[in-house]
Amino acid sequence: MTRTTMTTTTPITIAIDGPAAAGKGTLAKRVAEAYGLPYLDTGLLYRAVGKLAHEAGTDLGDAEKVGEIARRLATDHLDDPALRGHEAGEHASRVAVHPQVRAALVKFQRDFAARPTGAVLDGRDIGTVIWPEARVKIFVTASPEVRARRRTDELLAKGREVEYERILAEVRARDARDSGREVAPLRPALDAHLLDTSELTIEMAFRAACDVIDSSMGGRNDV
Ligand code: CDP
Repeated sequence: MTRTTMTTTTPITIAIDGPAAAGKGTLAKRVAEAYGLPYLDTGLLYRAVGKLAHEAGTDLGDAEKVGEIARRLATDHLDDPALRGHEAGEHASRVAVHPQVRAALVKFQRDFAARPTGAVLDGRDIGTVIWPEARVKIFVTASPEVRARRRTDELLAKGREVEYERILAEVRARDARDSGREVAPLRPALDAHLLDTSELTIEMAFRAACDVIDSSMGGRNDV
């Protein structure tokens, strides 16, 4: 059901941030559908840059060269299903540390966010850097163990041979890289609502997010 009964015509602007495998993508997609809003998974931009750089044989640590690839990124690059894969996520987190890469991707994200209807963007620095003026900010978390378990189950379901312990180590490494980088580190905006999904089903997390959105937008909860 589309939740369009807000009592105001103010655009519904929703920033969802959080660490790897916290469930923010699933949540953001459902929220966007429910409120009839366009949705941008900003991780795809970093994934596309990482994949293009890897395929070109570019050193992912070379900020200048990878920054140049980011400046040339086109929207068709985002349609590649391989971007959703595990390796693309690892490459993304390595190229996302470069200020040149982040700067090249800002305009695309802000233009998307500026749509008159409002929008839902998910990522790491949406509420803090890209879109500090978003009306609703949700920071989705879960313990590293729960996130690693979810990621392992997801990969096993795709027929991949993976070990929980290795995925847990990767989740921790990714957290350290995303939170420890100098530019736009992963952290909740001061005015973000924290949503810990460790003990929540997808449905429960969705309901909790809708409550936050409805009360922040001054609308009413109708589903
Ligand atoms: O959900 P998951 O972490 O698997 O993937 P993602 O959201 O697609 O992000 C992949 C990587 O891109 C993250 O680990 C971050 O390093 C980076 N990223 C970022 O720096 N800023 C964003 N707005 C989105 C992603």
